[in-house]
Amino acid sequence: MDTKVLHNLSYGLFVLSTHLDGKDNACIINTAIQAGSDPLTVSIAVNKLNYTHDLIKESGIFNLSVISKDAKFDLFKRFGFASGREVDKFEGYLNTIRTFNDALVITEGTNSYMSCWVTDTMDIGSHTIFVARVADMQVLSKEPSATYADYHATIKPKPTQSAPSNKTKWRCSVCGYEVEAEELPDDYICPICKHPKSDFVKVN
Ligand SMILES: Cc1cc2nc3c(=O)[nH]c(=O)nc-3n(C[C@H](O)[C@H](O)[C@H](O)COP(=O)(O)O)c2cc1C
Repeated sequence: MDTKVLHNLSYGLFVLSTHLDGKDNACIINTAIQAGSDPLTVSIAVNKLNYTHDLIKESGIFNLSVISKDAKFDLFKRFGFASGREVDKFEGYLNTIRTFNDALVITEGTNSYMSCWVTDTMDIGSHTIFVARVADMQVLSKEPSATYADYHATIKPKPTQSAPSNKTKWRCSVCGYEVEAEELPDDYICPICKHPKSDFVKVN
């Protein structure tokens, strides 16, 4: 089985935000799709280790901001590389609107948003699939949407050249994190974006 096939699937990119008891949080996801049209339904797959996961499970609401091609890497760093358990991702961040469900949406590096409420959940092991109805949606700009391929090709900084080393290096194909090891343990999880060993590629 060649897990590289997973890298050939095409995806969009989204800031998934939620709100619970006065607390805002958000993370980056690539797993949002329109699931149905009548009623208008979307689904998202969220890693159970993510703080956003726990907040959505309890609040039953979320907003999806659709990331556009002009998004800066900083947007991914802020929302996709740290956990809201450790930092307040919205501290000092002004590019937001609060929607009717009390959650925030992102207004920079995004072209539209939708506000959703959860109707079903499915436990699929590492992730929960949340199925949700769309309560409202708005277009913010005409900038085309970014794809996961854009993230890898143009948004994510290229790894810096380091001094040659004899040690085997593995790179997370999601966030670019690099680790030196002969082999990664089967249960290895990227400390930055929490993707599994199968998302790591050998660099040398
Ligand atoms: C490009 C990119 C795509 C990602 N896609 C997903 C995804 O589809 N589902 C998911 O649960 N996490 C995904 N992540 C990882 C989360 O955004 C990341 O683990 C985040 O730090 C979780 O924050 P939280 O603990 O505050 O929720 C992605 C990260 C990046 C950089």
